[in-house]
Amino acid sequence: MASSNRAQFSSRLGFILAAAGSAVGLGNIWGFPTQAASNGGAVFLITYLVMVFILAYPLLVAELTIGRFGASNPIRSLISVAPKHKLLGSAVGIAGMLGVSGILSFYAIVAGWFFGFLIGPLLSAFGFDSAAAWLEGFGIARNLVLMGVFMLLTVLVVRNGVADGIEKWSTRLMPVLFVLFIAMVGYTLLQPGAMEGLKMFLVPDMSHFSPDLMVSAMGQAFFSLSIGVCTMMVYGSYLRKDANLPKTAAQVALLDTGVAFVAGLLILPAMFVAQKNGVQIYSESGALLDGDTLVFSVLPAMFDTMGSAGLIVGVAFFALMVIAALTSSISMLEVPVACISEELDKDRKTVVWWVGGAIALFSSLIIFNFGSMFGTVISVTTEYVQPILGVIMALIAGWIWKRNEVLEELSHGNPELANSTFWKVWPTYVRVVCPILMALVFFWPLFK
Ligand code: PHE
Repeated sequence: MASSNRAQFSSRLGFILAAAGSAVGLGNIWGFPTQAASNGGAVFLITYLVMVFILAYPLLVAELTIGRFGASNPIRSLISVAPKHKLLGSAVGIAGMLGVSGILSFYAIVAGWFFGFLIGPLLSAFGFDSAAAWLEGFGIARNLVLMGVFMLLTVLVVRNGVADGIEKWSTRLMPVLFVLFIAMVGYTLLQPGAMEGLKMFLVPDMSHFSPDLMVSAMGQAFFSLSIGVCTMMVYGSYLRKDANLPKTAAQVALLDTGVAFVAGLLILPAMFVAQKNGVQIYSESGALLDGDTLVFSVLPAMFDTMGSAGLIVGVAFFALMVIAALTSSISMLEVPVACISEELDKDRKTVVWWVGGAIALFSSLIIFNFGSMFGTVISVTTEYVQPILGVIMALIAGWIWKRNEVLEELSHGNPELANSTFWKVWPTYVRVVCPILMALVFFWPLFK
């Protein structure tokens, strides 16, 4: 199964930064704060934290463990834990591969916009105002070009493989991201108006709670931890046997949740700072403007009101977004690349271009049919594909995979595991509790 010359992450820190790099992305810095803002702030935050802890973390351990055991691409790893159910294993692997390609196809479009907002202000600072306006305005050609540039960056990193591509760039970019992030939060919280946003984010108003909010929080938790579409499985397959899986997964989940939390400390206060500076953040009807408008109009408008400091803050913010998006998109592209190059025994460098090209083509289709496809692809992949495949993986790990093999795999890097509380709880938990919890979250809104 495991070939001795298979690629590996070179260090545990490298793995944690790469897996956290996959998890930390537009979902944390854009998705989470804007969802929190439009769902009552603190109530969404609390529900989200509960979802990460009770559902997403146990499934993250399951996915990583299946991957490390299989030490192969996700299709083969799933077959290796369920050898009597080859069809099921390959179907889940292929569905994960298609699901993650769908995610990448819309992700690259959004990441492209952020790229445009990174370059735009720099161009206008040098007097190229019309080029800047083109990059920041909505248009088919602009969307295509920016998506293409972002996909190209993703392909170039993944082409170099695990240690020299993914790990190298994740360990370079993640620390830059942390520093930029902390600086931005510090700066924003000192601006007038920030406290109002802080209050909205931290003081719960339970009247906002609803079953729908639970579904959104669950979807957000799955998206944020990159669960259900084999990214964590493929990263797990490159993880060394001496790493302690429950602990590593906890570190990744904590980093990811920490970044989402800090992003809330940034975006919600920033909205109210913008309002203080005369930018409109509520629509005529009194509802908060939606996610896109918030990030692509309100924030740039806020940066504009800050004078020359605004240029630096704005560039830092959008650079942060592009970095976060890139360390996630490379983990997405790795799934189909690993599956196809290993299953068809083809050279990785060639496969990367073909797969990247095919996904870019699908992205272009979305760009041409934006109104009808963009929202649909997002909702199908993140609200259905991710949770459903996530729970199927839990069922495979809990019911089909031989218990002694699971124990042995989890015990690598953690010899005391058999006597730990984790081992007393986790197997039954993924077997029974996770599927029931998820069914409850899914069906509760139907019985309102
Ligand atoms: N977790 C990433 C984010 O928060 C998105 C992602 C989803 C990455 C699925 C890989 C797989 O932006």
